[in-house]
Amino acid sequence: MSDAPTVARRVTLAARPNGPVTDDCFALVEETLDPAAPVAAGQVAIRVDTLSIDAFIRTTLEERSYHRGARMGGVIPALGVGTVTASAVDGIEPGDQVFGPLGAQTHAVLPGMMVRRLDVSKVPATAYLGALGMTTGLTAYFGIVEVGAVGAVPGNDTVVVSGAAGAVGSMAVQIARLSGAARVIGIAGGPTKCAYLVDELGADAAIDHRQGADAMADRLRELAPEGIDVFFDNVGGEVLDVALDQIAERGRIVLCGAISQYEHMDDVRGPRNYLKLAERHARMEGFAVTHFESSFPQAEAVLGGWLADGRLAMREHVEHGLDAFGASLRKLLDGGHHGKLLLRVDDSGS
Ligand SMILES: NC(=O)c1ccc[n+]([C@@H]2O[C@H](COP(=O)([O-])OP(=O)(O)OC[C@H]3O[C@@H](n4cnc5c(N)ncnc54)[C@H](OP(=O)(O)O)[C@@H]3O)[C@@H](O)[C@H]2O)c1
Repeated sequence: MSDAPTVARRVTLAARPNGPVTDDCFALVEETLDPAAPVAAGQVAIRVDTLSIDAFIRTTLEERSYHRGARMGGVIPALGVGTVTASAVDGIEPGDQVFGPLGAQTHAVLPGMMVRRLDVSKVPATAYLGALGMTTGLTAYFGIVEVGAVGAVPGNDTVVVSGAAGAVGSMAVQIARLSGAARVIGIAGGPTKCAYLVDELGADAAIDHRQGADAMADRLRELAPEGIDVFFDNVGGEVLDVALDQIAERGRIVLCGAISQYEHMDDVRGPRNYLKLAERHARMEGFAVTHFESSFPQAEAVLGGWLADGRLAMREHVEHGLDAFGASLRKLLDGGHHGKLLLRVDDSGS
């Protein structure tokens, strides 16, 4: 670190949301760091460059969180990439780019075992939050290939993806196509996102969920007259009910997430049409990406290969400044982005 004092800033939890998340939930706290303070053995000091704005952040704001909850007054959990400024860990040097649970802050100090040194020779560091990211590319990969078993019989599956123009969804659409799905249909909000699914991500067709449940059901019937073989669900609620109603015999529903429920976690609504699972000998299976941790390197190699030869793409939507953290999280929930939503952390205090 330089000898000039550094002002670190962090976003802390000021109040738990009561319904939709608002600015009052967050406080921006500043602290002057001692530039002469040594980093403790086994730790690395990191300047946070970019945060991954992920749906799980919303659920951590609840007291009884589906994921591990954020502490009142504590830094809001977030994954990110940053630059090492000081290190007391062998193999990690100042200047290295690292990935880890850096938190919504400008500076982090973490045990070396919690961060990963990144190879940025072929892809930028932000690729490890998006296409190669645990909560994005890897989640889509394991959901499509392992849980949904898309491509087990190549050319066999009609795959439908909800939240398809978002981070996980846009990866799931492309991975389904690359894994041998017969047909890939994306569901997203609005005509611009629907065009993006077909024109940029290579989906065979798109459905606008903002037209309402009946219109969604009619369009799905037209596009998948034999039913849905694999439904990769990011959304839950009404969209899940529409898909359940049209699940094929022996169809699979991949429960990746249910973002329509995250603003009222104490009153989560399950699917009304779940008896279709019995009627059609279908199954619904949930997963967390961490269940596949031992296979991360293999999946990353596959995704990295597709990325390198141009078969996989990830659009990044970048917001700027730690003060925009709350607004960025709301943007994720409201769908004001295409692809991966990132927050570039401006370190104006140092
Ligand atoms: N299982 C796992 O390990 C794992 C890991 C990471 C993420 N996930 C899950 O993956 C999902 C997507 O996360 P992400 O970070 O990639 O977010 P994202 O898809 O980039 O953003 C969320 C999208 O959800 C859509 N949406 C929000 N409310 C909706 C509603 N009521 N009905 C229909 N669509 C709605 C919005 O798109 P539109 O504009 O199209 O409505 C928005 O863009 C989340 O459910 C998350 O929990 C699961």
